[in-house]
Amino acid sequence: MAILELKLAGDPVLKQHCEEVTKIDKRIKKLLDDMAETMYASEGVGIAAPQVGVLLRVVVVDVDKKRYELINPVITYREGSAVDSEGCLSCPNLFGDVERAEKIRVKYTTRFHKEKELEAEGLLARCIQHEIDHLNGRLFIDIAKNISHGKKQN
Ligand code: NI
Repeated sequence: MAILELKLAGDPVLKQHCEEVTKIDKRIKKLLDDMAETMYASEGVGIAAPQVGVLLRVVVVDVDKKRYELINPVITYREGSAVDSEGCLSCPNLFGDVERAEKIRVKYTTRFHKEKELEAEGLLARCIQHEIDHLNGRLFIDIAKNISHGKKQN
């Protein structure tokens, strides 16, 4: 595994629309491993492939000590809305309030080629929505309110 260089806001790679993964091969499995290592090294709770310069629909999230690897994630259901503070590994020391669906269902493919559907709420739902935004070239600072500079509170 390797810690990859994080792309920061202002880098045009973060504004691109990512392609679907068509073949889950060794390269994708290594990407998943490296993304996870990069995320843990930066104490993040989620990371999307464009943040390490790869324009593919791949996301890794770790919430409540459970890791989720989502290949080609698609949100199939949304319910409610909630506003909470977010940050991003690509926007160091920036925080802002973002409105997201409170509860979602997301379908995705695993590294073992299995099609799965996950129901998520709270922080997990928020993280998945934030990361899928990355796959569509959208950063939280594009949609956040009350953006502030500072260290993370929790
Ligand atoms: Ni982010």
